[in-house]
Amino acid sequence: MKKLDPCTIVIFGATGNLSRLKLMPALFALESEGRLPKGSKVLAFARRPWDKQQWVEEVAKMLSAKYPDGYDKAAFDRFSEKLEYHQGDLTDGQAYEGLQKKLCSGEHFPRNVLYYLSISPSEFGTVIEKLGQAGLLQETHGWGRVVIEKPFGYDLLSAQTLQKELTRYVPENQIYRIDHYLGKSTVRNVLVFRFANLLLEPLWHRNYIDHVQITHSETLGIGGRAAYYDNSGALRDMLQSHLMQLLTLVAMEPPVGMDAESLRDEKVKVLKSIRPIPQNAVHAHAFRAQYAAGHVNGKPAPSYLEEEGVSNESATETYAALKLYIDNWRWKGVPFYLRTGKRLEESSSQISIRFKHPPQQLFGSKVDTLRPNWILLGIQPNDCLKMEIQVKEHGTAMKTRVISLDASYHEEGEQAGDAYEDLILDVIKGDHSLFLRYDEVEWAWRVVDPILKVWSMERAFINTYRAGTWGPRGTYRLFDREDQFWRHSMNIEGSDVSTEAY
Ligand code: BG6
Repeated sequence: MKKLDPCTIVIFGATGNLSRLKLMPALFALESEGRLPKGSKVLAFARRPWDKQQWVEEVAKMLSAKYPDGYDKAAFDRFSEKLEYHQGDLTDGQAYEGLQKKLCSGEHFPRNVLYYLSISPSEFGTVIEKLGQAGLLQETHGWGRVVIEKPFGYDLLSAQTLQKELTRYVPENQIYRIDHYLGKSTVRNVLVFRFANLLLEPLWHRNYIDHVQITHSETLGIGGRAAYYDNSGALRDMLQSHLMQLLTLVAMEPPVGMDAESLRDEKVKVLKSIRPIPQNAVHAHAFRAQYAAGHVNGKPAPSYLEEEGVSNESATETYAALKLYIDNWRWKGVPFYLRTGKRLEESSSQISIRFKHPPQQLFGSKVDTLRPNWILLGIQPNDCLKMEIQVKEHGTAMKTRVISLDASYHEEGEQAGDAYEDLILDVIKGDHSLFLRYDEVEWAWRVVDPILKVWSMERAFINTYRAGTWGPRGTYRLFDREDQFWRHSMNIEGSDVSTEAY
């Protein structure tokens, strides 16, 4: 494997939530696994008047919170040598000039620089402008790459505006729009599963697939993120980004090659083929709701409106479900159902693909023998792949039952690394494959924009669901036919043809 260049990783928003929970632990894990290039530095750009020592202590606190059972102290000693701190305000030009001097003086900081924007989306434009004005985005002495977290914009128009602002200072090939779902192990496996095996390709088609479901559910509420979430909602937070990306991977055509542009070309084709939802059809295609008080895992949970920082008139959705059609040769007429929600019964993410019924029912006539095949791709908590088929029951009668072919591909005790670790390394390698090109983001906004518009006009009422359930009942009206239902579980027991799973 090619040795990676040492680099300086500058983190904006280094003391924020994402940095605490994901970035710093991921960088520490890379260091302890010996995967962070030798000589690299991790420089926090933040407002508090701290020095290096205070920053090191803060990072130690982050790791203690993440790993309550302890972590490798020798690795932390190595890691702390890489940690640096730069005090400054995001809006202050002088702070960037100071940064420029720091980075360019002497040998202390590698000249390849990765800028990680783990900040509020409204600040992306300012930071890029200041970096550009300080000459920090020019690649004269090494590469300069910018990682931008989601959401890229707030809707179609704001995404277009943001893109214009960014490209004044930094070209597309230096931008890495991160969607951490693309770094998850099963998500990467979707492509291998589809394009390294011939077996399924002929079936991956409107002739055999009845519909596709993509679900991300969480038991957690919004935590302390009201300021962000109440202005965002489930549709922007999860659906426009993560779930839409999963849809492209399930639906795309085989790419010409596995290089970034070929992959992203195919994903964009899928997004462009999604049938636009006219504003007067929004209610037939989309459903939103908000959690009311309930019980999650046996413990009382407050309603969304009772969460700290949420206005008591908020109509922000914490649950969103969507029906989409992809009007192309492969998928015409096959509904894709996407849903996500907070404070639901379980935390899980899965892709469930339901096949059509066989054309003739030869074995028994009871309803429970009519079950169609499913392919289930578990993203989390368990990384796995299952396929449900019918077999003959024991005994003389020609009766059938469903069994699950379980192709869990991890050895016992084998743990998939966190998505952020691999994605950060991809940026250091300069590999864009798992990052979003601007046109992907724009086309994804085009899909949800009419829904956002209608929902933003209907602020007086929102459906609710009890915290700790599988969401609102009304969502069933999205289904095209009576034999379609939400698939909550990866287990056969959970696949009952029933809508009473609340
Ligand atoms: C983030 C969303 O992008 O993804 C959060 O902003 C959500 O609201 C999170 O909880 C889910 O990610 P994961 O990796 O925990 O499934």
